[in-house]
Amino acid sequence: HAHLLGIEQLNPFDIITLLDLAETYVDLNRRDVKHSDALTGLTQINMFFENSTRTQASFELAGKRLGADVMNMSMQASSIKKGETLIDTAMTLNAMHPDLLVVRHPHSGAVDLLAQKVNCAVLNAGDGKHEHPTQALLDALTIRRAKGRLQRLNIAICGDIAHSRVARSNILLLGKMENRIRLIGPPTLLPSPFKDFGVEVYDDMREGLKDVDVVMMLRLQKERMDGGFIPSEREYYHRYGLDAEKLSYAKPDAIVMHPGPMNRGVEIDGEIADDINRSVIQEQVEMGVAVRMAAMDLLARNLRARRAEKGVMV
Ligand code: CP
Repeated sequence: HAHLLGIEQLNPFDIITLLDLAETYVDLNRRDVKHSDALTGLTQINMFFENSTRTQASFELAGKRLGADVMNMSMQASSIKKGETLIDTAMTLNAMHPDLLVVRHPHSGAVDLLAQKVNCAVLNAGDGKHEHPTQALLDALTIRRAKGRLQRLNIAICGDIAHSRVARSNILLLGKMENRIRLIGPPTLLPSPFKDFGVEVYDDMREGLKDVDVVMMLRLQKERMDGGFIPSEREYYHRYGLDAEKLSYAKPDAIVMHPGPMNRGVEIDGEIADDINRSVIQEQVEMGVAVRMAAMDLLARNLRARRAEKGVMV
């Protein structure tokens, strides 16, 4: 692949290849010396048009650990504020010969559009409600390490599915790997197209969590609810917040996941989030760096091969 735009474009072989490479980077990241030269000589630009802690920090660390020259564009201070369009901004940066462009944008499809205009590898770091492929890949790696496999698991994705690119990428990935997926949430946050994905849909947490292996919680994405119905946090926590009582319906060894940022006391009880016997939330963050290293390594190999074909030295 020339770009990583979504899980939709990947097949199970692509996914396993990337996760296997990411495992080697998990080992590297746990050493005192964390450097490799997979991206030496290459330039990585991170363009985040939306807030981020985990994704932005881990892409930056991933690039630095692989030897790339990494630049973080401060989009708040950029000429976007003076009316320059996304494409003009991207073409301006493209003229500086980056090799990897990491982009987060509030509009679904914006990253795909940008990838058509530039001549470097583009990685989608989250576009609107569309996809967040590296999040689904890091979730898959976390599940595979905790459960010893990535197939035939009962996985519940709970909460604000309607506004979640994380849910969409996870449904696609976990479905391709032949897992049984349940979506649990209030009907207002569970749009009907999801019913066509071959998933089961529940509006009752206890019913939906029964005997699942993995419980994936999502944040209420109020910033994407533009004027629509926003549930009260108290009521939402009562019905859909994950606490010990609701979790007791899942398998005794079920793991609890959350992509972050978390709203404690809204979608998840703080004690569950911190319970090291159940929660793998910190491990998800650790896997994020390794998965992003693997994704950029594979795209850089492809980029070098294509340039070598054209006779351009890298
Ligand atoms: N999970 C995730 O994308 O977190 P950030 O928004 O902090 O990057």
